[in-house]
Amino acid sequence: MTILVTGGAGFIGSNFVLDWFERNDEAVINLDVLSYAGNLSNLESIMDNDRHLFVRGDIGNSELTSELLSRHTPRAIINFAADTHVDRSIHEPGSFVQTNIVGTFNLLEAARRYWRKLDNSNQAEFRFLHVSTDEVYGSLAADAPAFSETSPYRPNSPYSASKASSDHLVRAFFQTYGLPTLTTNCSNNYGPYQFPEKLVALMVLNANHGKSLPIYGDGQQRRDWLYVGDHCAAVRRILDACRIGEVYNIGGGQEMSNLEMVTTICKILDELLPNSEHRPHTDLVEFVPDRPGHDRRYAIDCSKLEKELGWTAAENLESGIRKTIEWYLENETWTENVVSGSYMNWIEQNYGERR
Ligand code: NAD
Ligand code: DAU
Repeated sequence: MTILVTGGAGFIGSNFVLDWFERNDEAVINLDVLSYAGNLSNLESIMDNDRHLFVRGDIGNSELTSELLSRHTPRAIINFAADTHVDRSIHEPGSFVQTNIVGTFNLLEAARRYWRKLDNSNQAEFRFLHVSTDEVYGSLAADAPAFSETSPYRPNSPYSASKASSDHLVRAFFQTYGLPTLTTNCSNNYGPYQFPEKLVALMVLNANHGKSLPIYGDGQQRRDWLYVGDHCAAVRRILDACRIGEVYNIGGGQEMSNLEMVTTICKILDELLPNSEHRPHTDLVEFVPDRPGHDRRYAIDCSKLEKELGWTAAENLESGIRKTIEWYLENETWTENVVSGSYMNWIEQNYGERR
């Protein structure tokens, strides 16, 4: 048995593949274009594993995906591949449309052609699991109930709009063609191997090096944080047990403001690095102009997943953030490798303009 994972060299995809091999005998075909966010070093420990086949390629390349599907006959596709950073989508929305909408469409088409040719029993077993985001629901008022699976779609950034479009395509392929799809909408993840453009990874890196900690606007935007391992566990559970065509929200129920998150990171760093010349790390906080169209609040109601499939987040925020910070401190070579020239150009583009 084999599964096809896309985007498996990125943050969540690589955590998923690494966890998969700890728990499963099944082979993984790992398709990733290796954009700036994809790093083979994430997969170093399994590169020699016979059950792991890494293929560099684009989910939008139907010829390639069709060939991989017919050659390896996977029982499932788990689609993590995407352009994922909201700030980049503001600077360059076109690539988000290409990857997240056109790419997902082409992958769905290849999956549909493959699935149609399977025999009845393999058709019934097959799953296309699309990994999406809570950002498709837009922004919540301070006192509004958390997003549920029936909340209306109101995306506010080019990123979330492109993910919303991909979710609609997935739904349409289920409704129209009967392709056995599943969709997950997850909240903000943090953990090892996150590219240091996202809040938690960027703040740990900057604070450790005595660089400023740029907080957009007033820092009172709220996010629902989830440890990446818990997201991976939820995806595995949904893949195994869920009815086709279903949508599941995934979240940690651990909501906090960005300023609280950055302060938490700084306090843990103060404790872990008692001799650092940058203590107290909160002195590095700098308020910078806000992100355009910035969503004020996300919160996820994941009671459907908890009640129907018995999933709960294992990690609490304090333990998960601590574990994550320790990982970054112990893996400075990983960060040095991913922080290339193009990364520095991005930092200048995004934060230079704010000064
Ligand atoms: P990431 O940016 O770290 O990784 C994305 C991966 O996809 C990279 O390895 C990249 O090379 C690959 N990729 C990009 N375009 C591709 C293409 N055309 N073909 C093949 N591979 C391609 O992203 P992430 O944070 O790991 O997110 C993974 C998925 O989870 C995304 O679909 C994202 O929308 C979703 N998600 C992320 C979060 C989060 O907090 N990070 C939360 C909810 C949902
Ligand atoms: O909610 C799920 C989403 O979470 C995923 O779908 C996205 O792929 C992922 O990038 C993430 O989106 P956010 O925009 O919430 O994540 P980011 O880490 O970019 O920002 C988190 C919050 O921190 C957000 O309110 C913006 C703020 N922020 C971010 C950066 C990078 C800052 O204040 N300063 C910063 O430098």
